[in-house]
Amino acid sequence: MKLIVTESYEESSRLLADMFEEVVAEKADAVLGLATGSSPIGLYRCLVQDFEAGKVDFSKVHTINLDEYEGLGRSHEQSFGYFMDQHFFSRVNIKKENIMLIDGAGKPEEQIRRYDEFLEKNPIDILVLGIGNNGHIGFNEPDRVFQAGTHLVELEEDTIKANARFFEKESDVPKRAVTMGMKGIVNAGKVVLIASGKAKAKAIHELFQDDIIDPMLPCSILKVCREAVVVVDRELYEQAENE
Ligand code: GLP
Repeated sequence: MKLIVTESYEESSRLLADMFEEVVAEKADAVLGLATGSSPIGLYRCLVQDFEAGKVDFSKVHTINLDEYEGLGRSHEQSFGYFMDQHFFSRVNIKKENIMLIDGAGKPEEQIRRYDEFLEKNPIDILVLGIGNNGHIGFNEPDRVFQAGTHLVELEEDTIKANARFFEKESDVPKRAVTMGMKGIVNAGKVVLIASGKAKAKAIHELFQDDIIDPMLPCSILKVCREAVVVVDRELYEQAENE
């Protein structure tokens, strides 16, 4: 696991975009693993800019997202599907049929089966991850064990609180979500985690403090990924050092 410290969130985002574009340049039909939340917004902004400048072509690319709230269909403004449409899909030339999303309004068992079948046949080439304040990745919450396959999770109180900022009120945040499990993440060719903001300092500090893989710190699974890069800006790096 490699740590890269940049001078700013913008620099981190640019770095990630370059990594994604390098993969697509090498493999036009690459499978891109995508995340939501505020952390990857800068990455999507850079990818859209480069697409508009003719520097990257997504016409053969496939995408798969990490997770979705239970009960929220793609047209719901707080769904991750809607987020992806707004920030990325509607702005580039990714084909609709090449987009893999969990349908939050669909039956979880069906979504889980569909996702795991896809991942079995189409391992991710490059995957972007954000990180929850508690170290979660996707919606793999701290737990006694890791779960390998796509699964339904009960969200932690802290996660619900942290994500309430996107909803009108905290009680509107769904209590459960469907998330890709650790198998899809570990099988990715390259995993890039982007973190910014002092709320992430504790998790980043814990991630680098030892060589242990602990399901109570879900992001620690990155230590067994083939190629994992953690990108943080200097401000967060210094905060994490002082934890
Ligand atoms: C959600 C998502 C995660 C994301 C996390 C952090 O819980 N399921 O994939 O990493 O939020 O979000 P942010 O980047 O907004 O801090």
